Amino acid sequence: MSGNSLDPYADRYARRTQGMTISEIRALFAVASRPEVVSLAGGMPFLSALPMDVVGEMMGALVTGAGATVLQYGSGQGMPALRERIMDVMALEGITGSADDVVVTVGSQQALDLVSRVFLDPGDVVLAEGPSYVGALGAFSAAEADVVHVPMDGDGLIPAALEETLLRLRREGRRAKFLYTVPNFHNPAGVTLALDRRPQILDLAERYDLLVVEDNPYGLLGFDRDPLPALRSMDDARVIYLGSFSKTFAPGLRVGWVLAPHAVREKLVLVSEAQVLCPPTYNQYAVESYLRTQPWVEQVKVFREVYRERRDALLEALDATMPEGCSWTKPDGGFYVWLTLPPGLDAKVMQPRGLHARVAYVPGVGFYADGQGRRELRLSYCLPEPDRIREGVRRLAGVVEEEIELRTTFLGPVGSWETWHRHSPSADAPGPDLA
Ligand SMILES: Cc1ncc(COP(=O)(O)O)c(C=O)c1O
Repeated sequence: MSGNSLDPYADRYARRTQGMTISEIRALFAVASRPEVVSLAGGMPFLSALPMDVVGEMMGALVTGAGATVLQYGSGQGMPALRERIMDVMALEGITGSADDVVVTVGSQQALDLVSRVFLDPGDVVLAEGPSYVGALGAFSAAEADVVHVPMDGDGLIPAALEETLLRLRREGRRAKFLYTVPNFHNPAGVTLALDRRPQILDLAERYDLLVVEDNPYGLLGFDRDPLPALRSMDDARVIYLGSFSKTFAPGLRVGWVLAPHAVREKLVLVSEAQVLCPPTYNQYAVESYLRTQPWVEQVKVFREVYRERRDALLEALDATMPEGCSWTKPDGGFYVWLTLPPGLDAKVMQPRGLHARVAYVPGVGFYADGQGRRELRLSYCLPEPDRIREGVRRLAGVVEEEIELRTTFLGPVGSWETWHRHSPSADAPGPDLA
């Protein structure tokens, strides 16, 4: 068998596997889960806030009461009763429509893969916020698509930047198949698409004949206000909506969904049947029963309060300890803060030093398809207790200070890095000693 010496199967793999690399988050998992490390890396929900005895009883009763049904194969599209309840969940964000246009998926991750398989041929362009969700980038990369990032600011995706990108693509004779967006409490950026920008984005979608894939697992986890209306609630022909029970109930059940225009829905079901035959029946019953019999909206409030307290702990600790030159987003919901280091620092290069100081974060590069993000990193506040968060930030601030000192020793004060940056080909490129 020929192939490279490290992998004897190398010359047999399909082309789509070539761009596939282990995600920054999974690569960190083993070391970040050591007890001495404060992990601000993973985006795992705080499941201990669930009433496990009640959930356990409910799930046990499903098997003892109707095992032959709940453990059986089911329909490829997903259980009708669950799809009806999903319509009620989406109504909280202003979405109306038919349960017949919902496809239940194995988490919204499968939905991302389905949408990619239905719409993307190799070389097709997908627009996505920069930074963007790693799991989505993975699905687009597996489909051999070309991701073009569109910048965000504190109010989410910038409509003018979207239009500029669409015009540039048009000049280049390329057309984006869809815009992928996480409008609420963005992973990883922590920002939310402002209300007044929502119709502007949809207007651009209309004018440039663009589909929009709205990925919204965090929409109900806002700290300060009622959920904003979903893009899908403003346009049911152009928007394909992805939802999930991973953040509002339990990610281990792997239950998510897509709401799509009817014609698209049929294609999604065909592709999903080819992948998994049907989504897991028992897990669908568990979610349906949870939504029907438990005070799930109250439970979402409990989660929100937990995350609000942790967000506060993180932001207060950042304010108190991070060296000058760092900046970060201030999320009003969800799990994540996006931090930008002073010019010249590199979050990926700094990572081993962070782990040595027993704090884990996710370097920003993994959230871009094009190598941007060297100065950026993601901090998650969802899982650690507030005191651990404060300790983690104290450790991180120490590491950043050390890095700044190191760079000052080698390159002079911060001002001179900025001069260097102004003259460097890419303002985001690492310094010469970090390349
Ligand atoms: C923006 C976004 N989309 C999709 C997912 C995948 O969620 P699920 O567990 O439903 O597959 C996540 C998980 O972190 C996410 O943050």
